[in-house]
Amino acid sequence: MKIIEVKDYQQMSRLAACIISEKVRSQNRLNLGLATGETPKGTYNYLIKDFNHNGTSYEEVYTFNLDEYVPLSMDNPNSYRFYMNHFLFNHLDIPMSHTFLPLGNATDLENECVRYEKQIEDHGGIDLQLLGIGKNGHIGFNEPRTSFISKTHVVTLTSLTREANARFFERPEDVPKQAITVGIETIMKSKEILLLASGESKREAMNELLHGELSEDFPASILRLHPDVTVIADQTALKGIQVEGYSFTKC
Ligand code: PGA
Repeated sequence: MKIIEVKDYQQMSRLAACIISEKVRSQNRLNLGLATGETPKGTYNYLIKDFNHNGTSYEEVYTFNLDEYVPLSMDNPNSYRFYMNHFLFNHLDIPMSHTFLPLGNATDLENECVRYEKQIEDHGGIDLQLLGIGKNGHIGFNEPRTSFISKTHVVTLTSLTREANARFFERPEDVPKQAITVGIETIMKSKEILLLASGESKREAMNELLHGELSEDFPASILRLHPDVTVIADQTALKGIQVEGYSFTKC
């Protein structure tokens, strides 16, 4: 795992966007795994700036998001489809038909999970997966004790995750209790992974990620076994944590 410590959220976002846009420019056809939440918003902002200023084209990019709330439909402002359109897709030249998320309001959820997993596979798998990390170590919505060999599945969100995400909803009780998430195995099959962490609330998770045990109790710990993971974290998230194996990129 390569760890890059940056000053703050803005630097983290700029560097992440630089790595992603560089990849978009250098590869003819790219499958990007994308994330939602507070963490990647800055990165998406910088990608849009890069698109506007440098004309990086997303016409040959396909995107697959990690997760979607059940049973939210895509026009629900709290759905991750709505978030992605709003914060990224509407501002790039990516064809909407190249952007994929699980359907949170599918009538047959089990079937939807199988369909989504196959959709990723049929497109050739994820080239670069962007990840945030939950305070409890979740990646996607793979909560603690999710099997490391899981594929896309329906999850019941933990109370910690529902509390953490309540800030996006009008009332805490509006936070959905379930979601569809790609599995840990799905994430681990990505060729390259970029994990972002910013702020004090992620410090404990960063410490566990870098120094804790490899365990299904902390889903992100599996990333240590992946051959190409870059973690970009800011000073606040890494404060007091011993970091080895510093690395810098050309961005
Ligand atoms: P956040 O969520 O970016 O809103 O902190 C990250 C996550 O839960 O994976």
